[in-house]
Amino acid sequence: MLESDNSKDQDVEVIEEDWSQFGPSSDNPMFDYYETQKFPLGQGVEMKLQCVESLTPLDMMNLSNGISDSTGNRVWSGAIMFMVYFAIVPLLQSTSIDSLEEENDVKCEKMKSLQNLRDNLFTGKRVLELGTGTGSSLMAVVLSCLHSKADLPHHTVFTDNDETVLKLCEQNCKSNLGAINVSVECLGWGKEETIKSHKEKLYSFDTVIATDVLYDLSALQPLFETASLMVNPGGIFILAHVPRASIDCDLKDICSSLESKILEQSRLHNFKVLGHENGIPVEVGDYALRPKWLKELSIDLPDFVDLGELDAIGASIMMFKNVK
Ligand SMILES: C[S@@+](CC[C@H](N)C(=O)[O-])C[C@H]1O[C@@H](n2cnc3c(N)ncnc32)[C@H](O)[C@@H]1O
Repeated sequence: MLESDNSKDQDVEVIEEDWSQFGPSSDNPMFDYYETQKFPLGQGVEMKLQCVESLTPLDMMNLSNGISDSTGNRVWSGAIMFMVYFAIVPLLQSTSIDSLEEENDVKCEKMKSLQNLRDNLFTGKRVLELGTGTGSSLMAVVLSCLHSKADLPHHTVFTDNDETVLKLCEQNCKSNLGAINVSVECLGWGKEETIKSHKEKLYSFDTVIATDVLYDLSALQPLFETASLMVNPGGIFILAHVPRASIDCDLKDICSSLESKILEQSRLHNFKVLGHENGIPVEVGDYALRPKWLKELSIDLPDFVDLGELDAIGASIMMFKNVK
C-alpha cells in the first residue's frame, strides 16, 4: 500500500485559476460574451447591437447535435438582406430625394418603390417578428421609419423561443429604441405552441417577418403554421432567407429546391406569393426580391452590406399574402 506524504501536501497552496471572465456571470448570464457591433443604416443613423460576431465550433456542434441553438446571438445575412430593402434604401431615399431625382429617374423610381413598400408594410401597422435573435431586422425598420419622419409601426413585437436571446433582444431594443414602445415575447413555432402562448393575439398582425430562420428544413412547416396563425386575413408574411438547410439535391439546384419547398408550404397555409403584378418590385416573372436588382442601381450602401456576396449565397426575400 502506498503511503502519502502528508507533510508535503500541507505546504502546497493550490491556487485555482480565475476563469470567471470566460463564463456567464450570475446577474447577466451571457452578456460577458457579447461585443458591440455597429450597423450604420445611412444618413448618420447607426444601430449598435450587443451580439457575437460568429458562433464558436462548440455552438455549431451543439446545434447539429440538437443540444442547443445559439444562432440568435449573431446577425445573419438574411437580416442584412432584409435591412437593405426595408430599412437602408428607404431611409436613403426619403432623405435624399431631390438630388436623386436630378441624378437618375430609374434609380429614383426604384428606390421610391422600396420606400413605399416599407411604408405600406410597416408604418402604422401591427408588426411581429419570428425568430428575431438580436432584433436587428425589425429594429432597423423602426429606426428607418423614425429617421425618415415616417409613422412608426403602431405595434412592434419581437419574438423568439430562446430565453437568452430574448434578454439580448430586449437589451438591444432599450439601447437603440429608447422610449419607443415595443414588446419582446417568447413564441415558439408550430400550431400548438402558438395557440398555447398567443391565443389572444391570433390573426392580429398586419405584417409578420422572419429573417434567416431556415437552417433546418423541419422548421419550415411550424414556421408557416405560426405565421399563418398570427397574420390577419389580407396581411403579409415576409421571409428573407439564405439557403442553409441541407436538401437532397444538386448543389447548383439548392436555391430553387429550397424556394419550391417554401412555395409549397405557403400554399398549404393559404398564402399567395406576391410578384410584379402585385406591385412588388421584383423582376417580371419572378417571385422574390434579389440582390441583383439592387446591385444594378449602384447605390452607395454601408460597408457591412455586400450585395455581391448576398447574391452569391442566394439570399432572397419572398412576400406572401394571407388569402384565407
Ligand atoms: C439563425 S437565427 C436568425 C436570427 C435573426 N433573425 C437574424 O436573421 O439575424 C434563428 C433564430 O430563430 C430562433 N428559433 C429557432 N427555432 C425556433 C422555434 N422553433 N421557435 C422560435 N424561434 C426559433 C433561434 O432562437 C434564433 O434566434
